[in-house]
Amino acid sequence: MNSIVKSGVFILMLCLVMVVAQVHVAATPAKRVVVENDIDGEDIGVHCASADDDLGFVPIHPRGQWGFSFHTRFLGTTLFHCRISSRDSSHGLVVYDDNLHRYVCDTCHWSIRSNGSCLFSSDVTKVDCYDWVK
Ligand SMILES: *[C@@H]1O[C@H](CO)[C@@H](O)[C@H](O)[C@H]1NC(C)=O
Repeated sequence: MNSIVKSGVFILMLCLVMVVAQVHVAATPAKRVVVENDIDGEDIGVHCASADDDLGFVPIHPRGQWGFSFHTRFLGTTLFHCRISSRDSSHGLVVYDDNLHRYVCDTCHWSIRSNGSCLFSSDVTKVDCYDWVK
């Protein structure tokens, strides 16, 4: 092959790799979960995990927030579950489930309150509030 054909083939391959990479990224969009402590004067502890990742225990001060980003699985569903602990209670919360939140939020912002939690689809748009399940 002469060098012009060679570089033509190289550029074609490069384009192919870029197209495949973009399709992959588009198929598994980046999502973000933010957990905010909106309980006055009380620290909370948050421990989140999915089937693949255990994010460990994270303390959050009042009005503080913590978050994480992830790509949804190409096959199967992504689900992150958290245990939210305060001084005298502990509650489970599904902070991200493909089946529930895929089209609801890209940044799923959770406000943790003493009687429950509220989901915002951005920092300002409220989706709904959920009282803690006893
Ligand atoms: C908590 O209580 C407030 C005031 O009664 C109510 O508006 C809200 O829906 C309750 N639940 C949550 C999760 O905020």
